[in-house]
Amino acid sequence: MKIAIVHDLNINNEESKMVESVNNAISKKYNCELVPFDDNFVSKIKNYDFVFNLSNKGGRETKQLHVPSILDKLGIPYTASNAYSHALCLDKITTKIIMKFHNIPTPSFIYFDIGEFPDKIDENKVYIVKPPREGSARGITRKSVVNNLEDMKKQIKKIHKEFKQPALVEEFIDGIEVSVGLIGNADNLEVLPILEIDFSNLPKGLERFYSFEVKHNYGELTNYVCPARISYEIKEKLEFYAKKIFKVLSLKDYARMDVRIRGDEIYFIEVNSLPQLVPVYSDITKMAKAAGMEYDDLILKILESAIKRYKEEEK
Ligand SMILES: Nc1ncnc2c1ncn2[C@@H]1O[C@H](COP(=O)(O)OP(=O)(O)OP(=O)(O)O)[C@@H](O)[C@H]1O
Ligand SMILES: [Mg+2]
Repeated sequence: MKIAIVHDLNINNEESKMVESVNNAISKKYNCELVPFDDNFVSKIKNYDFVFNLSNKGGRETKQLHVPSILDKLGIPYTASNAYSHALCLDKITTKIIMKFHNIPTPSFIYFDIGEFPDKIDENKVYIVKPPREGSARGITRKSVVNNLEDMKKQIKKIHKEFKQPALVEEFIDGIEVSVGLIGNADNLEVLPILEIDFSNLPKGLERFYSFEVKHNYGELTNYVCPARISYEIKEKLEFYAKKIFKVLSLKDYARMDVRIRGDEIYFIEVNSLPQLVPVYSDITKMAKAAGMEYDDLILKILESAIKRYKEEEK
C-alpha cells in the first residue's frame, strides 16, 4: 500500500514540523510520500492507495473541504472526516443548531447576518461576539466580550466588516476551559484524557480565555493540565456528549471539541473536525501523551483507524 501525506503549500513552521513528523511516523511502518495540494494534485494523487490528509487551507472560503471532496470523487480512501462533516463543523452556527437539536449542551446563541443588528439585549448578561467561520481565535479579542447593546453592535459590525460573515453572539461562560479529543470510530471510539487549559498564570488584566492575543502571544504562560482537574461526574458527562457529537456529525477517525465548564454545567463551544497534529504543541498530542501514547503511535493509530473503517465499509 502506497500512502500519500497530503499537505498545503503555504504552511507555517509548526505546520511544516507536523507534516515532517507525520511522514516520519508513517514511514516507520508503511511506504509513504509527501504530496502537496497544488495545481497538479489530481493527476499525482491517482498513484496512491491511501491518503493521510493534513490539508486545511484548501480554498478561500471553505478550507478543509477540498481534499476530501476530490478524493471522494477519485475513490481514494483518506483519514479523518469527509467534506460533509467538515462543512458542518466549519460554521459554528450550523454546528450549534445541530447540537441544540440533539440536546447537546452549548451556550445559548443568536446570530446576525451582514447588515443586521439587535435592537435590545438583556444587559444583565455577558456575551461573546465571534466570527462563526474562523479558527485559531481569529477575530476574538478582549473586546469581543460585551454586556451592553452599544458594544455588542460595535463588535457585530466589526465581524461583518472584517470577515464578511454573520456575527455569532453567545452567552459568555465564565468558568474553566477544557478540550476533548477522540480517536477511532463506532465501537472503537476512544476519548483521550481531557485537557484543561489553565489561564491563571497570565499577567493581571489579561483576559482569561483564548483570545487571539492569549493564544498567540502567551502560550508559554498558559498551563496545560492533563488529565483535567474535574470531577468524575463532569468527566463522564463530557465523554458521553463528545461521543454523541462525533456520531451526530458523522465524524471520522479523530476530532477535538472545545468546552467551557461553569459549576456542574458543561457547554460545547465548537468542534474541530481536522485538529492539528503538531508534536508537543497541539492539544491532541498532549492528550495522547497523557494516555501514554508516543507521537508516532498516535499518528499510526489514526491511520489504522481509517484503514479499518474502510475495510469494515467493504464488508
Ligand atoms: N461562549 C463562550 N464563553 C466563554 N468563552 C468563550 C466562548 N466562546 C469562545 N470562548 C473563548 O474563546 C476561545 C476561542 O473561541 P472558539 O473556540 O469558538 O474559536 P476558534 O477561533 O475556532 O478557536 P480555535 O483556536 O480552537 O480554532 C475559546 O477557546 C474560549 O476561550
Ligand atoms: Mg476553539
